[in-house]
Amino acid sequence: MKDIKEIGEPVYSSGLENIYFSETKLSYIDGENGRLYYMGIPIEELANNSTFEETAYLMLYQKLPTLSELEEFTKKLKENRDIPEILLKEEELIPKNAHPMDVLRTIVSFVGMLDENAMSKKEDEIVEKSIKLTAILPTITAYFHRLRNNLEIVRPDPNLNHAGNFLYMLRGEKPSDIEIDIFDKTLILYIEHGMNASTFSAIITASTQSDIYSAIVSAIGTLKGPLHGGANEEAMKMLFEIDRNYNGDVEAYLKDKISKKERIMGFGHRVYKAYDPRARILKDLALKLADFTNNRKWVDMQIELEEKAGPILGEKKIYPNVDYYAASIYYMLGIPFDLYTSIFAIARVVGWCAHVLEYWKIGGRLLRPREKYVGELNIPYLNIEQRR
Ligand SMILES: CC(C)(COP(=O)(O)OP(=O)(O)OC[C@H]1O[C@@H](n2cnc3c(N)ncnc32)[C@H](O)[C@@H]1OP(=O)(O)O)[C@@H](O)C(=O)NCCC(=O)NCCS
Repeated sequence: MKDIKEIGEPVYSSGLENIYFSETKLSYIDGENGRLYYMGIPIEELANNSTFEETAYLMLYQKLPTLSELEEFTKKLKENRDIPEILLKEEELIPKNAHPMDVLRTIVSFVGMLDENAMSKKEDEIVEKSIKLTAILPTITAYFHRLRNNLEIVRPDPNLNHAGNFLYMLRGEKPSDIEIDIFDKTLILYIEHGMNASTFSAIITASTQSDIYSAIVSAIGTLKGPLHGGANEEAMKMLFEIDRNYNGDVEAYLKDKISKKERIMGFGHRVYKAYDPRARILKDLALKLADFTNNRKWVDMQIELEEKAGPILGEKKIYPNVDYYAASIYYMLGIPFDLYTSIFAIARVVGWCAHVLEYWKIGGRLLRPREKYVGELNIPYLNIEQRR
């Protein structure tokens, strides 16, 4: 990679497309061939064989754990699950109609305020803070969901893994093994994805030598947008729109949206110019869950939409992305629409933390791009009476 100082003349790239600003070992996206690797391991292998806990370890420590390392890591995650009473009180004060992503952003900010050692840059302390953040995001989300529905909060169950415990705290009853397994795999697929917008936000904040909580708050705010993490929620709303407003006629919906130059949510990606490998895995999982729940309605609609959109969007190399089939999976798991993006955050917090850790470790520089000035110069200052 060329050092930025050697480049000299500024490079113009709309949307920062195709710009390298740092180096990473965490993940590699081969966008042309639709492949994704975490620490060099193909995503399919992790989805088939790993767990959220193990993949989280892989990201934070940049190696697969031994059995005892994994046990210790899992124990720490479990010990850190519950939130201090002051945070619970804070959650109780939040308006019930707040968006869960706003709740996450606000409470994580509060968590940072409670850590007197928040500014530490010691690697082992950053790892501990990362574990804490990873452990509490599901609890913050589940507690808020219970509170807004006037339900008793459900405390974390140490007998359940990360995925199973979240579903349990949310729904108040133990999920089945197949639900836990499928949900766990969706979390693995969401854990990390290179220098996407939210990770970039985290890194911009980290590059100023601010604290890790502030970096994660920045990332949560960025993930909320419908062009990024908000797309899974929008993708499910789209299926409901097709069902209700178009009588289930996928073709009519597609023609309408394309003619209005509107976007099909859950399709397209800045880096993938081939099928997103995560979408392929999620499609199989969605079909498996549809059989388990005995309701193929939504996944059948998605497959039809994908097939009909193929000839139109395929020309522009636009295919389903990770959010497309995740949407119907979360719906079939009984999760409300407005929690889908929070689930993305619950998993991606690992990638955010891993990138912050890595950036500090390699001595990453302050991020400070430039904008090309296109205005005029030497304009005289006009007194207020002279202005029109
Ligand atoms: C993800 C996304 C923002 C990437 O976009 P990008 O790299 O900036 O690409 P652009 O917005 O420049 O779009 C390029 C072209 O593809 C079209 N396009 C991109 N995504 C599209 C979609 N989901 N549906 C229809 N057309 C789409 C654009 O309209 C544009 O067409 P044009 O060249 O004729 O004007 C974009 O694909 C999108 O908005 N997708 C829907 C939201 C989504 O699912 N986000 C989750 C990403 S994981």
